[in-house]
This record gives sequence, C-alpha cells and structure tokens, in this order.
Amino acid sequence: MSETILVAVAWPYANSEIHVGNITGSYLPADIFARYHRLRGNRVIMVSGSDAHGTPVTVRADAEGLTPLQVYQKYHASFIELFQKLGLAYDLFSSTHTENHFKVSQAIFLALKQNGYLYTERQQQWYAPSQGRFLPDRYVEGTCYLCGYPNARGDQCDGCGSLLDATLLIDPRAKTDGSTPELRETEHFYMDLGALEPAIVDFLRQRQGYWRPNVLRQSLGQILADHLHGRAITRDLDWGIPVPVEGWQGKCLYVWFEAVIGYLSAAIEWAQLSGQPKAWEDWWFNPEARAFYFIGKDNIPFHAVIWPGQLIGAGEWFGKIFQEDGRRLTLPFDVPANEFMNLEGQKISGSRNWAVWGLDFLSRYDPDPLRYYLTANMPETKDTDWDWDDFVRRNNDELVATWGNLANRVLSFAYRNWEGRVPEPGELRPQDQEILQVVEAGFQNVSDHLSAARLRAALNEALRLASEGNKYLDSAAPWFEIKTDKAAAAKTIYTALRVIDSLKVLFAPYLPFSCERLHQYLGYTTPLFGEQYTETHIDSLGEHTVLRYRPGQAGVQWFPSQLKPGQAMVQPAPLFRKLEPSVAAEERAKLGKHE
Ligand code: MF3
Ligand code: ZN
Repeated sequence: MSETILVAVAWPYANSEIHVGNITGSYLPADIFARYHRLRGNRVIMVSGSDAHGTPVTVRADAEGLTPLQVYQKYHASFIELFQKLGLAYDLFSSTHTENHFKVSQAIFLALKQNGYLYTERQQQWYAPSQGRFLPDRYVEGTCYLCGYPNARGDQCDGCGSLLDATLLIDPRAKTDGSTPELRETEHFYMDLGALEPAIVDFLRQRQGYWRPNVLRQSLGQILADHLHGRAITRDLDWGIPVPVEGWQGKCLYVWFEAVIGYLSAAIEWAQLSGQPKAWEDWWFNPEARAFYFIGKDNIPFHAVIWPGQLIGAGEWFGKIFQEDGRRLTLPFDVPANEFMNLEGQKISGSRNWAVWGLDFLSRYDPDPLRYYLTANMPETKDTDWDWDDFVRRNNDELVATWGNLANRVLSFAYRNWEGRVPEPGELRPQDQEILQVVEAGFQNVSDHLSAARLRAALNEALRLASEGNKYLDSAAPWFEIKTDKAAAAKTIYTALRVIDSLKVLFAPYLPFSCERLHQYLGYTTPLFGEQYTETHIDSLGEHTVLRYRPGQAGVQWFPSQLKPGQAMVQPAPLFRKLEPSVAAEERAKLGKHE
C-alpha cells in the first residue's frame, strides 16, 4: 500500500552560503530519503525554504551594508542554484518571506492564543545604551549559566545544546560592539509550554522505541530533568512577521516560532502551486501520514519539543480555520537529527573560511562524488570529519573502482559485442541465478535501512552488492568465455547487466545523476526521477522565486531488474572519473584563506 510521507527539511538561514556540514547534516539525507520513497511509489512531499527573518539575517545585513531583504534574496538565490546543481529535489523550496507564510504563521499564533496557550508578560531584556535599542537574544553573548561554556549565545548554548534564558547569561556582552548591556523592561507574548508539557511528554514517550538516543536525550530527557517553562515568542524587531494583535505594532514573531511553521505553510503553498489547493491536507490532517524532520543536532529542541507543542496547542482551532471539523495536525513521526561534520579535524567555521562550500566544490567536481562521500561519512550517530585524502580515496577506490568499474565493464563489453543490444541468454546457470538472488535479497536489506533513515548502512549494503557483482564477473570472466563460447558469455553479460540494472535502483537515491545516465545506457526511455525547475511569483511582499520538482511518470521502480533481452542500449561512457591524489593537498591549501 502506498504511504504518505512528509519530508521536512531544516530551513537554512538566508545569511550565509551552504557548506558540506550543512549538506550532510540535513539537506542531503532528506533528499536521499525522499528519492527512495518516490522510487517506491509512495506519496512524498519534500518541503523547506529559506529562513529569512530574525537576527541571523539582520546581523549579516549590518555586516554587509545591505538591507535584510537584500541579504535574504541574495542567499535564497544561491541556495536554489546549489540545490539544483546538487540534485536536492525539493517539491517546494520556498521561503518564510511570503504572504502565505505570514498568514499561516499568524493563524497558528492566533490559534494558540484562542486555545489559551499564550500569555503576555513584562520581561527584562538586554538593552544596549550605546545603540539605543533592545538587543535580541542572539546579539548577546556570555557564559552559559548551565555548563560554563564561555561563548554561549543568548538563545542557545553550543557547549551543552540547551536553550537558554538570555537574561541569566553570566558576563553578558553585546555581539555588535562588545559593550555591556543592561536589563530593561519590555512586553512579550509567551507560549505556555508548561501547560503543554503533559501532551508533549506523551507524544515523546510514544516515540521512545525508535528515535535516535541523542534526539530523545535532548527532548524527553531534558523535560524529565528540568520541565518546560514558558518561552517568549515575540521580539522587539522590525524584520519579520508582525504580531497579529492590536497595539503590538513594531514587534515581530520570534524567528524560531515562525520558521518551523514553514513546514506547514510550504505544504499549503505547494498545494496551491500544484493547482490542488486542498492537497496539503493529505499530509497535515491525515492520521496515516508520517512526517520526518531532517535537521542538525543544534535544532533538536525546536523540532522535537517546541514545534510539537505548537502543533498540539494550535490543534483543533487551527483545523477549524481550514476545515469544518477541525482535525489534528500531524505530529513528527521521526526527527532523525544528525551530528556535525568537522573539516580536517577542526570545527567548520564560515567566518574563518574553514569550510568546503557547496557551490565552490561543484565548480570543480561532480555532484555524485560529493553525495557519495557525504553519505559514506554522514554524522548519523557521532561527529565525523571531512578529510580531503579520504575524499579522494573513497572516490577512487569505492565509487570508481567498485561501483563505476563494474557498471562500465559490463556496459561497454555488452555494447561492443552484441551490437548494442542486451544479449539473449537462453537458460541461466546456477551461478547466474545465485548472484541475481543475492542482489534481490539486498533490496530488502537496503529498504529496511532506508525506511529507518539509516542511510550509511543502506549505502554500505549497496556497495557490498557491487563487490559481489565484481566477484561474479571476475570469476565468470566473459572476456575469456567469448573467445570459445559466445553463448556462455551472453549468459554472464545478461546476468551482469541485470545486476547493474538492480544496483542502479539501490544507488539511485544517493547518486541520481550517474544512475539516470546508467538507466539511459541500458536503453530505458522513462527517467528514474522527475525534474527540478524554478518559478517566480509575485505577492504583496514582492517577487518570490521557488524551486520545484515535477514528478516523473515512471511509477514504482523499486524492484530488481526485469531487463529484457534484445533491448537496444545507448553507447555508454564512464560514470565517474578518477581524481589525482594531488587534489587533496591542493584543496587543503585553500582552507582558511580569504580571497
Ligand atoms: N535556520 C535554522 C538553522 O539553520 C534552521 C531552521 S529550521 C526551521 O539552524 F524549521 F525552523 F525553519
Ligand atoms: Zn551550556
């Protein structure tokens, strides 16, 4: 039976370029997962967008001498370019700076208010006398009052991962000018997480059997240790979504409060753009739908605790805005958060240019080797390290030598010796049957891993099968068989073509570009996947370019090869290229330098 899957991907702040750590942390795993489900014929939407508001963007605007709108537009455009080049096939990559997102966010806010989960409070806020304004939490740094980490931000501590109360920071300093701020009074809306705690705990307990330990620890574990407290969800800031209440002009919804609502608003926007304005309800008002959130570990509390709280709290009232009977919004099924990827043994840092930037990488190398290396090295359970030597080695020894060579040897030999057609094998021998069965059994293993978002394990399994394919080919040695017994060689090559045709499916979520080519070489005419494209729309906030995906027409493809003898092939070319070992030293020399 076809499943309904929401692939919800972290929204990148529109304040800097995207590096390999970001890609392997959330965007790439989401794409692999979505492609897998598409191949299986499941109903998937993968949505995200630029996180356009709040201090992350205003800080950058100050630094670059641009307006926040210009900053957001600049980075949004570069994200779309990167995602197309890297084959991250979002059904919709939008942004939080759209009329639709403003409306949906304000509706969630009002639903929470209506349901009694919001209250106002006068609070103390850091104020910078030197700048004559309130400082957003993120503009204040100091020592974490929980763990003593000296460079905690007001909103969150990167030392212990906890969300912080900025007013409790020890030795605060203004990030902008280093001055010492003072506490002054202002009024804000708070979300009553204390009142929502029992429901949130209940939700988390139901996920205890299968969530990653780190995610449970930073959600359920934290709550049981320390309970939930009300959190301010408005800010004294003018770049963002206005608080939809009389008398609150000049204040905005807190960027984290509204950004997560993007998962819902983007699904609504996707449905509108697709000409089926109610289609989003299949994902959001459907108890059968399962929502997977692909995020980095620094985002866990927002997705595993607060966002579920927003969804539960807005609950039926929000449902009533859209539906007479007010159904429940879909809660996260899984939040397979990744750890971090470091670079050559050090933490990735944009400001020090200690990073491998996505677009820069793709100006010199192909997307599939990047996708391959980032998956083989994905920080699923612990931090990992990007190492340029390791990148070259894995490209040459695994991608090229194990998988690429198998495919190339078989394709070119078949194409050359059987006039460009899949050979007619007659009856297969036991050894042929055996390798086909090994590969067929692999489908179940790979599926089991992929369904549970264990992407590395699934890739390893596919690679193991490619090694088995190589062994089969080497022991059958069709290049000798053909000299004495062309019929035997035909059996071998037909079998080997089926092996690579099957492996193509297993590798496709990871290596969509090369697998699509292989698919064509084998003579198929309906592509494995659909197409990515952009569109520009105008709403009351201005021009808005989105990245979209047009699903393919091929239907279910997640099955072992059924390749037909006689099928006309297309002249093949190598799928991957070997890299010179000197690449590692050249690339390493660029790290940490500024142009
Ligand atoms: N912009 C955040 C980050 O890059 C992630 C936001 S995810 C969202 O860390 F769902 F809240 F948008
Ligand atoms: Zn801390």
